[in-house]
Amino acid sequence: MVENAKVALLGTGIMGAAMARNLIQAGAEVRAWNRSTEKAEPLARDGATVVEDPAEAASGADFLLTMLSDADVIEDVVGDGVLPALADGGVWLQMSTVGERGNERLARLASENSVAYVDAPVLGTKAPAEQGQLVVLASGPDDVRSKCEPVFEAVGSKTVWLGEAGEGSRLKLVVNNWIVGLLGVLAETIAFARATGVDPQKFLETIEGGPLGLPYAQIKGAMMIEEDFPTSFSAKLARKDAGLVLDAAEERGLRMSLAPAVAARLDEAIEAGHGEEDMAAVYEAAKPKQ
Ligand SMILES: NC(=O)c1ccc[n+]([C@@H]2O[C@H](COP(=O)([O-])OP(=O)(O)OC[C@H]3O[C@@H](n4cnc5c(N)ncnc54)[C@H](OP(=O)(O)O)[C@@H]3O)[C@@H](O)[C@H]2O)c1
Repeated sequence: MVENAKVALLGTGIMGAAMARNLIQAGAEVRAWNRSTEKAEPLARDGATVVEDPAEAASGADFLLTMLSDADVIEDVVGDGVLPALADGGVWLQMSTVGERGNERLARLASENSVAYVDAPVLGTKAPAEQGQLVVLASGPDDVRSKCEPVFEAVGSKTVWLGEAGEGSRLKLVVNNWIVGLLGVLAETIAFARATGVDPQKFLETIEGGPLGLPYAQIKGAMMIEEDFPTSFSAKLARKDAGLVLDAAEERGLRMSLAPAVAARLDEAIEAGHGEEDMAAVYEAAKPKQ
């Protein structure tokens, strides 16, 4: 049971805030910290204790849940007295997307502090996080699995248990390569429809309901057609994820051509000022120029 478990949650952005609410709903005692405190404060109304220092959040906690932007940020935030503050037997659930090398660095930090570490990135974006419908890709020591399960059940609808810490992050990279590729081809298909005088809405209607009509294409495609990009997952963080895929491919000598092309498009969109908008704003770099 997650009831009465003390959870220190660091990072109350789009994903972390939604996860905190679901944990509170499930009966956990959540102590939340965010760099910009004003983003964490609304959680106090939902029953979280909002604190101004990460180590204070971690003090006596059964779980440390990190949902921050990347490994450098996590190292900075957690490296400063957070792990020693956990309760005896406290477990670190690292649920941000940090890639292979990032995961290794964080696992090392946990081991230096004798804290059990579970690598548990998630699939799903803002709405699934709000609905407690994330898919958790969990990997880590066998002896803490049953302890972690209620936390994952509170934030997700499915937990895929893999082997040693690191396997979750590797599977997450594979899924992200799929997502980034789809995003790029969708943006160019909508641009191509516009350039050839085909109504892009007709394209989405034509594929809907069949094997090609992914719900993802409908959601992100509608944003591209409207050129309105309310953020579920920012273009900036999507670019970070594309970079993590490219790093892992390069280390193995695997030549990729699609992921670098989409990464370059994301760079263009970010340079044009769309970094904080949804990753569908990659369309801004692909659309026909008047
Ligand atoms: N959104 C999604 O669809 C999705 C899906 C799966 C996985 N993820 C992963 O989940 C993680 C969080 O994503 P998100 O979408 O929730 O991002 P977000 O809304 O941008 O939140 C990012 C968090 O990181 C913090 N942060 C950034 N730079 C920092 C720094 N230098 N020092 C301290 N804190 C810093 C932010 O604090 P401030 O509020 O102060 O900026 C915020 O708490 C990322 O690893 C992302 O790749 C996201």
